[in-house]
Amino acid sequence: MAYKNIILEKKDGIAFIKINRPKVLNALNGGTIGEITKAVLELEKDDKIKVAVLTGEGKAFIAGADISAMSNMTPLEAKEFAEHGHNMLNTIEKSRLPFIAAVNGYALGGGCETLMACDIVIAGKSALLGQPEINLGISPGFGGTQRLARLVGRMKAKELLLTGRNVSAEEAQSIGLVNMVVDDDKLTETAEKIAGKIASKSSVQTNFIKALVNKGVDIDLATANSLEISYFSSSFSTHDQKEGMKAFLEKRKPDFKGN
Ligand code: COA
Repeated sequence: MAYKNIILEKKDGIAFIKINRPKVLNALNGGTIGEITKAVLELEKDDKIKVAVLTGEGKAFIAGADISAMSNMTPLEAKEFAEHGHNMLNTIEKSRLPFIAAVNGYALGGGCETLMACDIVIAGKSALLGQPEINLGISPGFGGTQRLARLVGRMKAKELLLTGRNVSAEEAQSIGLVNMVVDDDKLTETAEKIAGKIASKSSVQTNFIKALVNKGVDIDLATANSLEISYFSSSFSTHDQKEGMKAFLEKRKPDFKGN
């Protein structure tokens, strides 16, 4: 389908979703949230795609939910808007595809919430991350209070949420909000390189690993470990397990097929 607020490109098994509202620093309005959700669902059905990279056009990743769109919302409209945002992030989180956030500047509010639903976060040196909602007289509505606490711990999450203080890419990395920081001009190529590496693996297993880690952190350890055993054992009915082990024994590179 044709998109207005995002650019969707595909290359060598990698999908690139670029949010394209640079005049408002890629702020998330309802239309943009809807398009990102649709794009993720479209990619989900595309067998050729193994991994996705999410980034923003211009000087921001996403500067937050769209404040102009929110300013006159009624409580009911705000509830629907928050549910729309949560649905987008749950769609990313539940997708079979690993998502790499390539954070190219401001990642505030809904921007920070979006990268937290991704699987790997690479930030350019000049990126700025945070949950400044408190400065607008609201609290986060797209999972910021929940995913942030799970990622960086309750104390650090509350400090950032209560003060509305934004953090540099380096600080974000030091608290576990970002995997790696690279020079701004190396961001795209680093994201592509990591995406390419993931795309070369068995997509059955990239899907399993993402699902196991995401499901496991929210349930008790014994149940999570049982889930791991069942995914592990079902791997032994796949082509890729046979090929991966055969290739190791034959001292050659495996040719994974994603089944
Ligand atoms: N929603 C709607 N519009 C936004 C926006 C948002 N979250 N963030 C930025 N914009 C718009 C600005 O209103 C401005 O529009 P204008 O040119 O029509 O005035 C344009 O994007 C450029 O932003 P500007 O503030 O001029 O850029 P800056 O470089 O001086 O500052 C920020 C950048 C990110 C520090 C600043 O825009 C900001 O604080 N944005 C809001 C961040 C936020 O609170 N996010 C959480 C929302 S819940």
